[in-house]
Amino acid sequence: MAGSRVIVALDFADAPEALAFAARVTPAECRLKIGLELFTAAGPDLVTHLVTKGFDVFLDLKFHDIPNTVSRACLRAANLGVWMLNVHTLGGGKMLEAAREAIDRASHRPQLIGVTLLTSHGDEEASQIGLRDNVKRSVQRLAELARDSRLDGVVCSAQEAAALRQLCGSHFLLVTPGIRLAGSPADDQQRTLTPAEAVAQGADYLVIGRPITRAADPLSTLAAINREILVH
Ligand code: C5P
Repeated sequence: MAGSRVIVALDFADAPEALAFAARVTPAECRLKIGLELFTAAGPDLVTHLVTKGFDVFLDLKFHDIPNTVSRACLRAANLGVWMLNVHTLGGGKMLEAAREAIDRASHRPQLIGVTLLTSHGDEEASQIGLRDNVKRSVQRLAELARDSRLDGVVCSAQEAAALRQLCGSHFLLVTPGIRLAGSPADDQQRTLTPAEAVAQGADYLVIGRPITRAADPLSTLAAINREILVH
């Protein structure tokens, strides 16, 4: 794969904070993820700004709406020049196919990734929202739905990566958060893996936030992570 496997989560409150961080890293060392908080505060201008600077941007807005609305939103995101975007698989097969057809029509085609179940959901909540299977089985079923709708991959916890790799094949992208460096604090993440462990489980891309954004020297932390996963 060309470029780094590391996607840094820009979980900042506004554009100035995000840009101050982006100035400390380079597109050769990492890709950048813009989520709901930052996009709501800073909007598409920040996305295009970072794209113009040469960064691969993952727009993490987890679209979930009727097929027409999601397909149009995906096309707008593609037109911003993002490298990756995601939709929620609970939107169903028709929505996923509409999203994929929309980005297939885009002049610049981003990677389209599905969110299965949020890792904040446990079995009790899965049953509360009417899912007949437990979380593990539901995640597998939704990943298969993403694969059958010809999405490029899913976001999953690194613990699920090996099973999903087997289920969905070698070309299906697995994007995994919940990564912590050996010896660094877990923060609010429950079950974490190190970068090398996640890649060994089959992860293609690692979403890493605080261990890099709060590091005294983000660039050297990134370099150490990139070295750690190169040997895998
Ligand atoms: O700071 P930290 O490395 O925990 O950041 C992880 C990033 O991945 C955050 O942007 C978080 O919202 C995101 N994420 C996650 N767990 C998921 C899906 C996304 O931590 N299941």
